[in-house]
Amino acid sequence: MKTQVAIIGAGPSGLLLGQLLHKAGIDNVIIERQSADYVLGRIRAGVLEQGMVELLREAGVAQRMDREGLVHDGFELAFDGRLEHIDLKGLTGGKTVMIYGQTEVTRDLMEARQASGAPIFYGASDVQLHDLKGDTPHVTFTHNGETLRLDCAHIAGCDGFHGVSRQSIPAGTLKAFERVYPFGWLGVLANTPPVNAELIYASHARGFALCSMRSPTRTRYYVQVAAEEKVEDWSDARFWAELKSRLPAETAARLVTGPSIEKSIAPLRSFVVEPMQYGHLFLVGDAAHIVPPTGAKGLNLAASDVNTLYRILLKVYREGRVDLLERYSAVCLKRIWKAERFSWWMTSMLHRFPDTDAFSARMQQTELDYFVGSLAGRTTIAENYVGLPYEAID
Ligand code: APR
Ligand code: PHB
Repeated sequence: MKTQVAIIGAGPSGLLLGQLLHKAGIDNVIIERQSADYVLGRIRAGVLEQGMVELLREAGVAQRMDREGLVHDGFELAFDGRLEHIDLKGLTGGKTVMIYGQTEVTRDLMEARQASGAPIFYGASDVQLHDLKGDTPHVTFTHNGETLRLDCAHIAGCDGFHGVSRQSIPAGTLKAFERVYPFGWLGVLANTPPVNAELIYASHARGFALCSMRSPTRTRYYVQVAAEEKVEDWSDARFWAELKSRLPAETAARLVTGPSIEKSIAPLRSFVVEPMQYGHLFLVGDAAHIVPPTGAKGLNLAASDVNTLYRILLKVYREGRVDLLERYSAVCLKRIWKAERFSWWMTSMLHRFPDTDAFSARMQQTELDYFVGSLAGRTTIAENYVGLPYEAID
């Protein structure tokens, strides 16, 4: 087989890049290790920045999102028993975010892929990348018991944190930056009405809590738990009691509980590799970086990497601008580090750390109080939350 761009991984990064390239007439083949159902079974984030919303529209996969997604003009910070509103729209000159689950984004992209007839291999095993710096870059893999070879000009490594792409780069080439936080998020999905029209990020002596949603009838709630907690030890009743204890009394009184339809614990990590390119291979999304979920940036960063690689490849294929390929990593990393900073800062400000001394605890409280009490502080939160602008490629 032969194509222009080989895409490893059919998460949101791989599917969105594939869709944009296909629409632009650039051939691509997607190779995914899991089945489509397995990919759709993963419950992940749900807040889309405006840049990602616009990119999904450009890709032609936004009809359902525009019908069913919830546009949010702001969110709430809860601390000291009170709610403080962050007016995203007012503070950013009209920008908003869209509440629409990653699972739904993925489903829409999968349907578009199928409708386009462009090739996608699910259930591929033993995926290997070859000749990344040479004249014959290619990918080999096993599918339905058959060994296949895909020749290509470029490879997009969209295969997530545990994927093969980053690991195919020779040791010593990449520099990794990492912080693992000493806690995780216990998340529950339930068919209950949201406790509040907007998201609530709560800082409490018992730990952080987040009230989010997927629709007017489906909620996603989280509580900070110790890294070693086991999901089996958390009955629904225990989860709801813990969540209520961390919310302002008036909010807790309004909380509607119900049976969970999914419950899981996710660790919190910050991670970046530099550079994001090695020869003909380009790392995209979670393959190159992870953020803790507190800023809702993971999926959005994947979209901005896709945007950058797509715009570069367009110019490569249409105008012969191969010089732009070298810029991919620097353009992406500039925005990634800013999102890493915001995610780290939100995490640091809102969570309880096991080793916090009295002075650090006061600093944390004061930081929250200061930022929320100052127009400059609220503006910096808002402009980061709605998403920093994408860099133009020219
Ligand atoms: N070969 C082929 N596919 C692979 C391989 C491999 N060796 N290893 C992993 N994959 C697949 C995974 O099964 C998965 O479907 O690559 C895909 C990667 O998808 P994601 O992990 O969702 O990563 P990405 O598409 O970059 O999405 C961005 O942002 O907030 C985060 O976690 C959130 O998933 C979201 C991510
Ligand atoms: C979610 O809805 O899952 C969600 C929302 C906001 C975050 C993280 C997760 O910051």
